[in-house]
Amino acid sequence: MSPSSPFPLGASDTPQCREVQPARCLQGELVVPADKSMSHRAALLASLARGRSRVENFLTAQDCLDTVACLELLGVPVSWAGPTTLLVDGVGLDGLREPADALWAGNSGTTMRLLAGVAAGIPGLTVLRGDASLLRRPMARIREPLLAMGARIDGREGGRFPPLVIRGGPLRPLRWRSPVASAQVKSAVLLAGLFVEGETSVCEPAISRDHTERMLTGAGVPVWREGTTVALRGRVTPSPLDFRVPGDLSSAAFWLVAASVLPGSELRIRGVGVNPTRTGVLDVLLAMGADIRRENEQIGGGEPFCDLVVRSACLRGTTIGGEIVPRLIDELPILAVAAACADGRTLFTDVDELRHKESDRLRAIVRCFSALGVEVQETPEGLSIQGGAQILGGQVASGGDHRIAMCLAVLGLLASGPVTVVDTACVATSYPAFFSDLQRIVQR
Ligand code: S3P
Repeated sequence: MSPSSPFPLGASDTPQCREVQPARCLQGELVVPADKSMSHRAALLASLARGRSRVENFLTAQDCLDTVACLELLGVPVSWAGPTTLLVDGVGLDGLREPADALWAGNSGTTMRLLAGVAAGIPGLTVLRGDASLLRRPMARIREPLLAMGARIDGREGGRFPPLVIRGGPLRPLRWRSPVASAQVKSAVLLAGLFVEGETSVCEPAISRDHTERMLTGAGVPVWREGTTVALRGRVTPSPLDFRVPGDLSSAAFWLVAASVLPGSELRIRGVGVNPTRTGVLDVLLAMGADIRRENEQIGGGEPFCDLVVRSACLRGTTIGGEIVPRLIDELPILAVAAACADGRTLFTDVDELRHKESDRLRAIVRCFSALGVEVQETPEGLSIQGGAQILGGQVASGGDHRIAMCLAVLGLLASGPVTVVDTACVATSYPAFFSDLQRIVQR
């Protein structure tokens, strides 16, 4: 890395370290990468359908490519009709076969947990492995319902951590009350429920993202919701999909916050998914005073999307907690950046789930943000951030967490001096072009 070249570029360039210079503002248009959650689900559901599915604008970031590789090991023929057009020749519920080797879920909790639900329905042994971060992520939340459905599942520390060893087979339907509002838990149980005659349901404390339900409905599977309970009737083979994945609001969120807080900024982000179970970040930013407009609103494949136009604005502190948390769970780190730049204090409560993401994000925010001069404290309920302190230059490590790395880069745009973000290769898990997109829109 050379100081005269803050963004050493190249499409396949994933250096371990990036120096981000302060910016004047952000200007221009952007298409963010495809939605990660929907890409995983489209590949999975297409595999369980019988016949050819076409998934356009599939996210070719590492997490979703890992899901595709796992599905191939389960015997699903997959090909590409273009750089991001995935063709899946679904084998139906009975067509998945015992894999010849362990499946590699990489850094991806969604891959491991959703595939565990599928593996529960496959007669035979499936082993799910992951990287050092994934090995620390809790699995009891999916193991318990899948055990109750009749699968045999083991893992490290009494089955609580990966690798997971799953012996699938005939299952029974289940009514599951999940202690956490987690779309991964809900989806694991619903996917297992597809293999079973009868009604399987999941009740969660608050509604988490509902992409699985929408996609199942689109594929002809009977799914219904009552309050915070969602149910499906198995055993129904999904119909093949013809689905175009919209842009990922979780990726757009970095630019929404950066453009909000850098005076003189204006950005149009095209084709971003705005499923209401994901738009907590928009609700909070608007409540903080952000100027974000939706244009060209459309619906495709059961999912709403639109252009988001953001202009800089003065943000004020707020309180974030309660039922909105599952609707913005992945955007909490970048909302912490917004809080650092807002007038007044922002309190984050009910955010303990942040400890169980790609890293302990509560700890990461406190460690990294305070190193850059942000007034941040861990509280018994979550976090407290006093906005308005000058963000300082310096060197900070992402700890291998993609969303933390991108937040630190945004802090670098706002700082009084360059910020060197150590360990940035991880952005490839969700947003491989993050630094080249940044270079296109930044004005200095
Ligand atoms: C995801 C659900 C969320 C989210 C994760 C993706 C999904 O996790 O944090 O990045 O695609 O289902 P939880 O379901 O564990 O909250």
